Amino acid sequence: MKLAVIGTGYVGLVSGVCFAELGNDVICVDKLEDKIAKLQAGEVPIYEPGLKELIASNAAAGRLRFTTDLPSAVRAADIVILAVGTPSLPSGEANLSFIKQAAKEIGESLDGYKIIVTKSTVPVGTNEKVGAIVSEHTIHSFDIASVPEFLREGSAIADTLNPDRIVIGTDSGIARERLSALHRPLTDNILLTDIRSAEMIKYASNAFLATKISFINEIANICEKVGADVTRVAEGMGHDRRIGSSFLKAGIGYGGSCFPKDTEALIQIAGHVDYEFKLLKSVVEVNRDQRFGVIRKLEATLGELAGKTVAVWGLAFKPETDDVRDAPAFEIIQTLVDSGVRVRAYDPVAQDNFSRQLDHPRVDYCASAEEAAAGADALCLLTEWKEFREFPLARLETLLRRPVLIDGRNQFTEEELAGTSFVYYSVGRPNLSKGVREQSPALQF
Ligand code: UDX
Repeated sequence: MKLAVIGTGYVGLVSGVCFAELGNDVICVDKLEDKIAKLQAGEVPIYEPGLKELIASNAAAGRLRFTTDLPSAVRAADIVILAVGTPSLPSGEANLSFIKQAAKEIGESLDGYKIIVTKSTVPVGTNEKVGAIVSEHTIHSFDIASVPEFLREGSAIADTLNPDRIVIGTDSGIARERLSALHRPLTDNILLTDIRSAEMIKYASNAFLATKISFINEIANICEKVGADVTRVAEGMGHDRRIGSSFLKAGIGYGGSCFPKDTEALIQIAGHVDYEFKLLKSVVEVNRDQRFGVIRKLEATLGELAGKTVAVWGLAFKPETDDVRDAPAFEIIQTLVDSGVRVRAYDPVAQDNFSRQLDHPRVDYCASAEEAAAGADALCLLTEWKEFREFPLARLETLLRRPVLIDGRNQFTEEELAGTSFVYYSVGRPNLSKGVREQSPALQF
C-alpha cells in the first residue's frame, strides 16, 4: 500500500519505518526542513535502538522517503496517517493546533478518495473534527479512522512490529477492510470499534498503567513504614493473572512524553463532560510527590543539604532513550540546587537534551558515571541504565566521599551490598546501613 505519514516525531517516524519494513511504500512528511534534510542523509533525530539501521535499509530499498512537500505525499498515498504532536497546553488540555493545521492541508491536497488515519493521541471527538476540517477544504470523498499507537520509547520498533493488539476505530467499511489488511502482518489481534471508543482506549490504557505505577509507589511508601519489601509484594501480587506483574516497579514515579500529558488530558476530557476523575487526579498527585522521596532520604542521611555535593546518575525518564520530557530528574535536581547543593550529573545518552533545559551554575554535567560520583557526599540513581547497574560497587565506594547511595529504581540487592560500607536507601525496601539491614520499625496496634 502507499502511505503518507504526517509528522516525524516518535510515533510518525517509527510507524513509517515499520510500515516500510512490511513492504509498503511510505513517504514521511515534516514541516521542519532541517529534520527532513537530516533524515534524507540517514541521520536520525532521536535515540531509539534499531531505528537508524531500519531507516537505512528501507530507504535503500526505495520503500521509505522523506519530504517537506505534504501535498505531493498526500496525492501519492492511498492512506494518510496523522502522527503530529499533541503537546499539553498550560491547562493540561491537548494542544490540537498541529492536528487541525495538518487536517486543513490534507483537505487542500486531496485529489481523490483516501483514508485518513489519526495515530496521534487525541481527545475523544477529535477525529470527527479532523473529518469536518478536511471536508471544508475538499470536494473529494474520504474516510477517517482512529488507530492509536501504543509503542514505548526504547522498544518502539519491537512494540510496533509485535503489538499486543491493534485498535481500529472507524465507521467506514472500506477503511475497516483496508486498515485491517495493512495491520494484519503485525498481528491477528485486531479490535474493530467506533471512532470515539478507539480514542478513549488510548487514554484509558495509559491512565491505567499510570495508576498501576502510582499504586505500587504508594504501597512502597507504606512498606517503608511497616518494614516490608515492595519488590516481594509486587512479585506476589503479579502472580495473580488478574493483576499481572508488569508496571509494578516502584521508583521515583513516571515521566515521559505520554503518561504525564495523557493523564492530565483525560482529567480535562472528563471535566468537559462534568465528570470529576477523582482516581486519576490522585494518581497524578501521588506521582508528583513520589520524586521527592529521594530528597527526603538524602536529608535523612546527610542532614542539612546546603553545601553538600550530590552525584546524580541518570537524567532520562527511563533507560534506552534520550528523551527527557517530564523526567523526574528535573524537579529533583532543581530542588537540590535550590537547597544549596552542588550537583554532579551524568546520563549516557540524554545528557545533552537535559543540560539544554537545565543550565545552572551549581549543576556540573560530567563525562562519565565515575567522574560524577568522584568526591560526592551521596549518589542518587534516577534512571536504571545498565551501565549503572553494572558499575562495581567496590569501586563506587572508594569514589564517593561518603558511601551514601539513594537508589530511586531499586537496582541493587541486599546480597550485593553486604560487606560494603554503604548507607543504602531504595524505594519501599528496608534501608541498609554499612550494608546491613536496619531494624524494622516498631509497629503499634
Ligand atoms: C508509555 C506506554 O507504555 C505506551 O504504551 C504509550 O504508547 C506511551 O507511553 P513510554 O512513555 O515510552 O510508553 O514509557 P514506559 O516504558 O511506559 O514508562 C513510562 C514511565 O513509567 C517511565 O518513567 C518509567 O520509568 C515508569 N515506570 C514504568 C515505572 O516507574 N514503573 C513501572 O513499573 C513501569
